[in-house]
Amino acid sequence: MFYASAMVHAQSISRGKQIVESRCFACHSLDSNRVGPALRGVVGRAAGKADGFEYSAALAAATNTWDLERIKNWLTNPELLVPGQRMNYQLDLKEDRDDVVAYLANLDSTKEN
Ligand code: HEC
Repeated sequence: MFYASAMVHAQSISRGKQIVESRCFACHSLDSNRVGPALRGVVGRAAGKADGFEYSAALAAATNTWDLERIKNWLTNPELLVPGQRMNYQLDLKEDRDDVVAYLANLDSTKEN
């Protein structure tokens, strides 16, 4: 059913927003580099390449682009994906990772919040 799945998707995005704000914003924001790089536009961005952010040598040397699956893997265990990284934070629940990625993928590309 189209309506049912669209509703589930909207719930996932709004739950993802809450998780990002309560957990990721300890270090990140959408539009500024803080302890971690700005997150707006990270889906589809080359890893380790946010303008003006000083990455670990390990992430700076990464050559991949962040797609949805790779961000989920990063959030599952960043050190397993990129040994030597320095995020050292993970989301243990698959549901949380799925919702966070749904939110990040649906962010407006323009700065506004
Ligand atoms: C304790 C601080 C901290 C928390 C909490 C944190 N991060 Fe990070 N994050 C970082 C740092 C630092 C880096 C850069 C790591 C490096 O250079 O190795 C990073 C990098 C990233 C990257 C790679 C970006 C790029 O430009 O290559 C993504 C994606 C990311 N974080 C997503 C998240 C999400 C989503 C959350 C919340 C679930 C989160 N982070 C929570 C500190 C944090």
